Amino acid sequence: MTAPTPLIAGNWKMNGASAALAEAKAIADGVGDCPARVAICPPATLTHRMSQALDGSKVLVGGQDAHWDDAGAFTGDISAEMLADAGAKLVILGHSERRAGWRETDEMVANKVKAALRAGLEPVVCVGETLEERDAGKALQVVTGQVRGSLPQELAGKTFSIAYEPVWAIGTGRTPTTPDIEEVHRAIRATLVEMFGEAARGVPILYGGSVKPSNATEILHAAEVGGALVGGASLKAADFLGIIRAL
Ligand code: 13P
Repeated sequence: MTAPTPLIAGNWKMNGASAALAEAKAIADGVGDCPARVAICPPATLTHRMSQALDGSKVLVGGQDAHWDDAGAFTGDISAEMLADAGAKLVILGHSERRAGWRETDEMVANKVKAALRAGLEPVVCVGETLEERDAGKALQVVTGQVRGSLPQELAGKTFSIAYEPVWAIGTGRTPTTPDIEEVHRAIRATLVEMFGEAARGVPILYGGSVKPSNATEILHAAEVGGALVGGASLKAADFLGIIRAL
């Protein structure tokens, strides 16, 4: 079974207007022939222009969320089809900021994954425990439960990835120890293999939460870590390139 091709994706969250396209261009210009697939997920207002600006480069453009329906009366929402039409190739789904802030359930995330597949987008499905859940010794149970609940069978044979993002490590500067990351990633891998068979060994499992150039080498080389989902440090080309080059 071939090892997964790593994916390093930047999640810009609600940051970035027109001027930030220059930063995306600098990232694309600096990537070189790194062994990872690289993506930037800007706010939806930049999807189309960024896709055009990065056309022909190694860097893919992704969305940060998509509705589970293809179209309809959902004021303020965006569909997977619309993201694909604007040039996105992948989409982050089930990020903890959406699970917590918008009460997204595993079932909603699974329906969003199906919508992404209908639109031809590659899903990046996020899972992760809160500090309370970790302190209660429930991290593995919570994370594997989210994997089971958020991944529909329609993913069998499709290209997708998982991002393990402990909620307490996002934007805090705190990261789990490497053995703790490896323990969770191994549990995710075992769950994926149970659900999708041996082919699931090729699914990249990204780590996310306070990844920066100074910790990227250790994290990216940990067992079962197949890349990173990077928030704050993906907004500056120098930092994001530092992480990409750590692979
Ligand atoms: P930070 O890298 O800013 O901690 O954010 C991680 C994240 O939420 C990426 O989706």
